Amino acid sequence: MTEGSAEERIRELEKANRILQKKLERTEKNLLHLEKGRQQTESLLKSTIVELRDSQTTLEVRSQELEQALTNMQLMQNRLLMAEKMSALGVLVAGIAHEINNPVSFIYGNLNHAGHYTRDLIKLVELYQQHWPEPVPEIEQWIQTIDLQFLMEDLPKVMRSMEMGAERIKEIVLSLRTFSRMDEAECKTVDIHAGIDSTLVILEHRLKAQANRPAIQVIKQYGKLPLIECYAGQLNQVFMNILVNAIEALEEMAISQAEVDDQPFSTDFRSLAVTAPLTISIQTSMTGNQVLICIADNGPGIPVELQHRLFDPFFTTKPVGKGTGMGLSISYQIVTEQHGGQLQCVSIPGKGATFLIELPLNNAGSSDRIAATK
Ligand SMILES: Nc1ncnc2c1ncn2[C@@H]1O[C@H](COP(=O)(O)OP(=O)(O)O)[C@@H](O)[C@H]1O
Ligand SMILES: [Mg+2]
Repeated sequence: MTEGSAEERIRELEKANRILQKKLERTEKNLLHLEKGRQQTESLLKSTIVELRDSQTTLEVRSQELEQALTNMQLMQNRLLMAEKMSALGVLVAGIAHEINNPVSFIYGNLNHAGHYTRDLIKLVELYQQHWPEPVPEIEQWIQTIDLQFLMEDLPKVMRSMEMGAERIKEIVLSLRTFSRMDEAECKTVDIHAGIDSTLVILEHRLKAQANRPAIQVIKQYGKLPLIECYAGQLNQVFMNILVNAIEALEEMAISQAEVDDQPFSTDFRSLAVTAPLTISIQTSMTGNQVLICIADNGPGIPVELQHRLFDPFFTTKPVGKGTGMGLSISYQIVTEQHGGQLQCVSIPGKGATFLIELPLNNAGSSDRIAATK
């Protein structure tokens, strides 16, 4: 190879080298571009993923909120339904009580006369017997048939027991009217003790001794209370719920106690009654400008871990069909929301439960309206 051609060759090679160098630079540049693009895409992707996650969380929160709102709505609906049912029942009870009131007054009023007439007639028969000791055979026969002696002794007793029955019906009718207070659906000043008493009359059959448990004793310690401004019908509902719960708790305790002791239900409960009489005590008093009503029982009490759930809607420890779990929740609403008061429960498990109702007096506290309701 000549020197000239060698130089030529070198130049060509250098040229090729430069071209390659440039190509390499371009490729590197392209690569850099691509890398940048990739990084951009990646960060875009990342931010999209983060946004997606965020919106997913928001969605979850929203759906939880929606679920909560739905539950609240269902609760509200149930409360409304219950309130509606109760007020419908109140109207019905008040209507029936009103309807029964007339015929009962009729019977009661006339029983008085019937009693008088009976006594007069018996006296007349006695006079006849005295002055006409030997009647004609037909009358003698009839005296034997009807057993006159027994009839004359029994008739006054029959009259008396009918009177007592009519008195009791009158009392129940009056209690039903006081209890439902449909005439007082709006806020009025009322005597709280009358409300509690009428509720007790309605519950009397549940307080009596049953085949499987002794009677429940009610101890009343009423303080001097002024008339207070309230929705009487609704407050009576609260007393009813709390008293029924106390009765059911005592009942359950007595029955399970009897089972533990292996006593047949027909046993004499006197021994049991001496050691642990089933008791509900009701105390009322004034504290400051609040009326305090305590309803306590010496039943099984409420386990500490359940105490905070008492006023939750649908919380019940009773079997299906027996408990609805709405009683205390509605009572809570009536006391706190409708009356601006407080409803609390204090319970020592094994010793019983006490429900405390505090009601503000509102404007009803003036001394001239103090009711001697003892
Ligand atoms: N005096 C009480 N003694 C013991 N437990 C009670 C008493 N009062 C209420 N409870 C408890 O509170 C629960 C809720 O009561 P409530 O709301 O009236 O519903 P329900 O009576 O239908 O169960 C009852 O199931 C019971 O467990
Ligand atoms: Mg209840």
